[in-house]
Amino acid sequence: MKKNSVIIFIIATVMVFSYGSAALNAASRNWAAKVNYETDIAALLQAKCTPCHFPDKGGRKKRLDTYASASGQIIEILRRIQLNLNKKGFMPDKRVKLSDSTIAIFKQWQTDGLLEK
Ligand code: HEC
Repeated sequence: MKKNSVIIFIIATVMVFSYGSAALNAASRNWAAKVNYETDIAALLQAKCTPCHFPDKGGRKKRLDTYASASGQIIEILRRIQLNLNKKGFMPDKRVKLSDSTIAIFKQWQTDGLLEK
């Protein structure tokens, strides 16, 4: 009986500790996961909106190659990437629609406050 209580105590302690650290991990992950321009957005724009919006790649459309230019146009970016492919103004022009998860990153960037880094 006594041995059993010790075992139960150990199991309970392990459970409390692992739950506690899981909760802590989740908290720190959310904190670290705030979307920001340097880590998340710049690379997406580079991958999806070149060359047209990148003057150094020969693009002649409104630039999206800096934090200021991208964050300043977030409303229009969000509107356009969520249009259907065949709608006027759809972006990325002449390409396929961005995936839902990519669109979600742009939305989250706005929600998180358009952080630069
Ligand atoms: C193949 C070239 C091309 C690509 C790739 C492209 N665009 Fe565009 N973009 C254009 C053209 C052309 C216009 C101007 C025509 C219009 O307003 O619809 C434009 C206009 C825009 C505007 C409006 C700018 C203004 O003058 O107010 C935004 C915002 C925009 N694009 C965002 C994006 C985003 C975000 C991407 C990448 C996900 C992207 N575009 C990819 C060609 C492109």
